[in-house]
Amino acid sequence: MTTGTSQGIEQRRVLRTEIPGPRSRELHARKVAAVASGVGTTLPAYVVRAGGGIVVDVDDNQLIDFGSGIAVTNVGNSAPRVVDAVRAQVDDFTHTCFMITPYESYVAVAERLNELTPGDHEKRTALFNSGAEAVENAVKIARHHTGRSAVVAFDHAYHGRTNLTMALTAKNMPYKHRFGPFAGEVHRVPMAYPYRWPSGSATCADEAFEAFTATVRVQVGSDNVAAVIVEPIQGEGGFIVPAPGFLRRVAQWCAAEGILLIVDEIQTGFCRTGDWFASTHEGIVPDLITTAKGIAGGLPLAAVTGRAEIMDSVHVGGLGGTYGGNPVACAAALAAIDTMQAEDLCGAARRIESTMLTRLAALAAKFDQVGEVRGRGAMLAVEFAEPTPALAGAVSAACHRTGLITLTAGTFGNVLRFLPPLVIGDDLLIEGLDILDAAFQEVLS
Ligand SMILES: Cc1ncc(COP(=O)(O)O)c(C=O)c1O
Repeated sequence: MTTGTSQGIEQRRVLRTEIPGPRSRELHARKVAAVASGVGTTLPAYVVRAGGGIVVDVDDNQLIDFGSGIAVTNVGNSAPRVVDAVRAQVDDFTHTCFMITPYESYVAVAERLNELTPGDHEKRTALFNSGAEAVENAVKIARHHTGRSAVVAFDHAYHGRTNLTMALTAKNMPYKHRFGPFAGEVHRVPMAYPYRWPSGSATCADEAFEAFTATVRVQVGSDNVAAVIVEPIQGEGGFIVPAPGFLRRVAQWCAAEGILLIVDEIQTGFCRTGDWFASTHEGIVPDLITTAKGIAGGLPLAAVTGRAEIMDSVHVGGLGGTYGGNPVACAAALAAIDTMQAEDLCGAARRIESTMLTRLAALAAKFDQVGEVRGRGAMLAVEFAEPTPALAGAVSAACHRTGLITLTAGTFGNVLRFLPPLVIGDDLLIEGLDILDAAFQEVLS
């Protein structure tokens, strides 16, 4: 795709003031006075409009978006089909509660997810509001079906901020610090993280698999374990791509032990990694899969999709919620999925990967502070060798000042992560990469 306009917004960076500008700074002063300070803000440029890969702020600056609101606006911001579907739905009705008087769009979203998620077995889906809520429900379903209570999660994992999902999340600050006590029966095992594996990447998959099975067998007991939950590429943990073959072995072992495999595709899903779901790259078929973020083009929706016999094992009334599968969010999801199919956004993610990886590899060759470049599709990252947030924070801040929205991640805060909308034009992508080059130059030379 080439640069043009999207939703009436020219697809190029425009800087009219410093970032954040005076009007954003005024709004930010109000935010500080009115909003709980625990709700942080990465880049306090207050938004008035967004379209395609551009975010427009109150000072009329146009910022290039390499974050997609944390992997949400895969179809772009204000994607035309999504906007039209939402408008039409709001005109018709906004809410009835699917558990009271149902509507077709919820059923249609379930049908699409049953068809698109990995595996050709019979499936069922339940809809929720947020990723954390989907993870909570996947664990509920796994426990109910197996009659077992333990859950196994990995180092560097992120699964949300509710009580159970905090327990599943690995990192203390900022997610867990002084928020305990946490939900019980959660056990942690090492992730096959090749770049930081103590004996080197070559032995990573084997040793991590041994440590995983030993911990589960010895410390927990396989027949106490309802589920193992894993992100096929760890998101907040720093876009860690597990060592090749590791997840396949985990999946096979779980199947042999009667343990359910929950794959959390909340960040990796919906074409982000160049396929509909990252499980496909790993050759694994989840028993239960959690999705959210990219599912509905920016509206809040989440899902658990899984084997029919597991999902249907729960008694009537055991799953649900007032807003889960809200009709406006369902209309948006159907339009977002149509957009991904019609515009081949999986192919777009692969094209973004080939453009970006070349440029990121050039940065790695030039700056020896870079430890590793990794990721898949339009989910790419640079990890700095030094395990502190200093360099990633400084490069990201330099990008923000010059009109590029970037995010950081990683257990050590030392990862720059890139999640551009999949509809981003080539020219805008390259302009963003040029800004990133300049930020590296400014901070690292
Ligand atoms: C892999 C993964 N799981 C769960 C969540 C939680 O989703 P939400 O913020 O919608 O609750 C996230 C959010 O970043 C995520 O990346």
